[in-house]
Amino acid sequence: MNLLNRLKIQHKLALLCSAFLLPIGILTYLFIGQTEKDVTFAAKETPPAAAPVSGVARGEYLVRAVGHCGECHTPRSAMTMAVDNNRFLAGNPKKTGPEGQLSPNITPDKDTGIGSWTEDQIVTYLGTGNRPDGDVAGGLMGESIQGTLAGYKDMTKADLQAIAKYLKVIPAVKNKIE
Ligand code: HEC
Repeated sequence: MNLLNRLKIQHKLALLCSAFLLPIGILTYLFIGQTEKDVTFAAKETPPAAAPVSGVARGEYLVRAVGHCGECHTPRSAMTMAVDNNRFLAGNPKKTGPEGQLSPNITPDKDTGIGSWTEDQIVTYLGTGNRPDGDVAGGLMGESIQGTLAGYKDMTKADLQAIAKYLKVIPAVKNKIE
């Protein structure tokens, strides 16, 4: 094949790339970027300009913007590891859990979540690590409660109560984690 023909073929290939492959690549990039943005930066993940001072709104603020409970407790896609905020706090099995740790469903579902825990039991758990069944929080949760410098145990009782109140009003999601 002479040089001219080779250049013609290369040119055709280049055209093919710019006509089809690049747009497909960019569309894929935009689309995946967009879905990831939607999922990981859901509007509510943006903390309000001023922190609410009390009640359920305070609890939501503490769970989302301070405690980042969703990082471990909101289900992640095994494919992309993106969090699925439509099932906020519904738990992760070991496969998608933080550092391979199972993170329980903490929505108010009675069977698969913590619907049977009272607000006081949630406050005690976050403040001390002591579970209603007499056991103690382990793994990353134990570490998050105790903290290296500060953990959930160092939050004020009023704030832990706000978190407990909030956890009672989020949608119950049936999601058995084992
Ligand atoms: C770094 C990951 C991580 C973060 C952040 C985290 N958790 Fe956990 N959580 C876990 C793990 C892992 C367990 C299981 C602990 C165990 O096995 O003892 C757990 C257990 C729990 C439990 C016990 C549920 C049950 O059914 O046994 C509650 C309640 C809970 N977390 C609430 C919270 C709240 C509220 C926050 C935010 C303030 C939070 N967690 C933040 C990882 C995390």
